[in-house]
Amino acid sequence: MNEKSNEDIKVAETLSKIKNRLLVFSGKGGVGKSTVAANLGVALSERQLKVGLLDVDIHGPNLAKMLGVENERLVSAGENSILPVAVTKHLSVVSMAFLLQDKNTPVIWRGPMKMKVIQQFLGDVVWGNLDWLVIDSPPGTGDEPLSVAQLIPATGAIIVTTPQEVSLLDSRKAVNFARKLNLKIYGVIENMSGLICPHCGKVINLFKEGGGEKIARELGVTFLGKIPLDPKIVESGDSGKPFFTYDQESQASKAFGLIVDKILNTNSKQ
Ligand SMILES: Nc1ncnc2c1ncn2[C@@H]1O[C@H](COP(=O)(O)OP(=O)(O)O)[C@@H](O)[C@H]1O
Ligand SMILES: [Mg+2]
Repeated sequence: MNEKSNEDIKVAETLSKIKNRLLVFSGKGGVGKSTVAANLGVALSERQLKVGLLDVDIHGPNLAKMLGVENERLVSAGENSILPVAVTKHLSVVSMAFLLQDKNTPVIWRGPMKMKVIQQFLGDVVWGNLDWLVIDSPPGTGDEPLSVAQLIPATGAIIVTTPQEVSLLDSRKAVNFARKLNLKIYGVIENMSGLICPHCGKVINLFKEGGGEKIARELGVTFLGKIPLDPKIVESGDSGKPFFTYDQESQASKAFGLIVDKILNTNSKQ
């Protein structure tokens, strides 16, 4: 048996123990893809589901920092087997960031090397039985997210967008990309949707509003909901405490809870 088929068998074994594999996509970077992935992982695990978070955004692996575990390292559990980093009892994470010597140095591996590492994240990591594997994929619809999607046979996708037209154009591409890959599209999340003025409490639509809902309707996919712009989200991300647990009473956390309900409802219907 050659080495490749051996690796393939290991990947298949891992995948057989993971019920749902969800890719978080965005048409472009900076729209809150990692923020959504991190908080989704936390929110699902708080519902007593077993969750793994896989950060394969090669050039911006921020998940570990957002979860406060960026200084952890992957530990070997015997030959060719690696333990994921435990965030809580029900939540573990594997990130490209754990392989970097220095946080400030960009990853400059060439394509095949990167893909080999991603394959190991599936074949060699002992994820165990998971209800959900949430994957933070590279932004956009180019070569890199495509290779990731081909390597990780996902079962579903979520698309994160911001409300302005330029971002929406990219999101249309992201929805079509997920369709071409035959993924079940859970829906579109509109992030950074309206800022609540800390002084008067009124909503300021910095980036317009409602665009995510419009493209979801236009493309015939579910609109999962809006997450407002909230300075506490930046604080929480920077301090390694996902906003969903950082401030459960905030409008953003409440909106996010409803989004998670919708995702779980969609799943139970299939
Ligand atoms: N709803 C929001 N309100 C305020 N800041 C946000 C919101 N969503 C994301 N951010 C911040 O915007 C920045 C980019 O988000 P990130 O999740 O890293 O985007 P991406 O993964 O798409 O590049 C981060 O600093 C994050 O904390
Ligand atoms: Mg990111």
